[in-house]
Parts: sequence; structure tokens; C-alpha cells
Amino acid sequence: MNQNQKKESSKDLYSFLDDSTKQKLLPNDIEYFDIIDSTNTYLKENNLQKHPLVVVANAQTCGRGRMGRSFYSPEKTGLYMSLKYLCKTEFNPARFTISAAVAVCRALKKIASVDPQIKWVNDIYLEGKKICGILCEGIFVENFSNPFVIIGIGVNISTKNFPQELENKAGCLLQTENADVNSIKIKLCGSILDELFNVLSFIEKTGDFSAILTEYKSFLFVLCKNVSVVSCGETYQAFAKDILDDGSLLVEKLNGEDVMLNSGEISILV
Ligand code: BTN
Repeated sequence: MNQNQKKESSKDLYSFLDDSTKQKLLPNDIEYFDIIDSTNTYLKENNLQKHPLVVVANAQTCGRGRMGRSFYSPEKTGLYMSLKYLCKTEFNPARFTISAAVAVCRALKKIASVDPQIKWVNDIYLEGKKICGILCEGIFVENFSNPFVIIGIGVNISTKNFPQELENKAGCLLQTENADVNSIKIKLCGSILDELFNVLSFIEKTGDFSAILTEYKSFLFVLCKNVSVVSCGETYQAFAKDILDDGSLLVEKLNGEDVMLNSGEISILV
């Protein structure tokens, strides 16, 4: 049974958007849910011809992460949002993930005055804990020659009491008990949308991804570190050398061999 529960639109979020974003996104292009299975799944499975289209939910029952993992999405304490966007450039999931990560970091700095860091490729950290994950997926829709990308972003705003397996890894943006979670959530959502459109329009206009990649690298905390890599069923130690233009991570194995990683997990060796 579909338990998705739609809400009235919120004027609040729209009023926080920059004028340039309002030119691309009309009030009806944002859908709100009290509860949804997953904002990404909703945009993937409902063949909505509209674009761009944004879905924001208060809670997700089947929030999804990379590599088939779930994303813990309890009600009211987190921001769960997805943007469906027509690709005007080649569909490269890593490039979209990098663009989204830069947009989220810019928005976190602006709205919460914090110093976020990125763990390649899609995790945003604050003070050593993951507070945000990004899941980009491509879909082809009839009548459109270009694919769509669905950019899903989940931010733990005030989430505590994580499931046991996340307890030591996950954190949240707000540490103070009496913060106005809803107001920060709406402002952050608006700012992420502004920055996403800024980054995507910049790449489309200039055809230049290198400036975004340079900004992404400035937030990364894995470069020039010894890391443990889990990729394609293999686990090994390596040195993280660089992020390449296609978003892959270049590592050097202990035997001197260079490997380009497109997916997989890394952790810093201490
Ligand atoms: C990850 O950490 O591996 C990625 C997590 C992405 C979570 C967001 S929440 C909004 C959107 N809907 C989903 O089901 N997933 C993304």
C-alpha cells in the first residue's frame, strides 16, 4: 500500500529562494509530503513530465543511500529532498554528486556558519560525523532525448538516537536542544536549491567543471592521506592522490600501482 501523505504547499520555502531560482522553479514545482517512502523513489517511479521538480518530505519510510543501503530518515529532525533535473550536459553521476556536495557545503556555511568537510564521494561531515548523504540517479523518460538526474539529499538537522550501527558515525547539524529546527530546515533547503541551480547553471553556461572540482577538493578531507579501500569485493590500503576530472578518486596501492576508483568505500587510516 502506498502510504505517501502529501501536504499543502509551504509559502515559507518559496519566499527564501533567490530571484534567479524563482525564475527556474515555480511554487507548484515543489511538492511537500508529511511522510513518503523515498523522495528519490517518488520522482523515479512517477513518470512526472514536469521539470525541474522538487520533493521535500518530513519523514521517509524507505530512505535510500548509495550501494543499496538505507538512509535513516525519522520525522521532523531531518531534511529529505530531491530535485529532478533535465541533464543538459552528459549524465555523469559522480559529477552531479560533486556539484550537489559543493552546493550543500556552500549552503551549510551560509545558513549555519559551520565548516563542513566532504568524504569522497558523497558524504558531508561535521566535526568527524556524517551529517548528510547524497544519492544521484539517472532516468530516461519517454519524449525526452536527454536523461534526467534525480539529486537526493538527506541532512540530519537535529537527529539523535541513531540506530546502533550508525551511532559512532552519524551526527547532526544542530547540537542545541532548543533550536528552531523547522526554520533552519526551510532556510537550508532554500539555500541548497539556490546553490544547486547556481552550480548547475555555471557548468552549463561555461562548460567548465574544473572550478567546481577545485571547490570540492577544498572541502575534501581524504586527499594526501592513507586510506583503506573497499571496492569490487577487494579491500586494500592505499594513498589518496587526487580527484580526477570525471570525479573518480586516484589512489596509489602499497605496491605503487595507481588505481582510479569510480565507486566504493574508503576510510582514513589513523
Ligand atoms: C548516502 O548516504 O549513501 C546517500 C543518502 C541519500 C539520502 C537522501 S534523503 C532524500 C533522498 N531520498 C532518498 O531515498 N535518498 C536521498
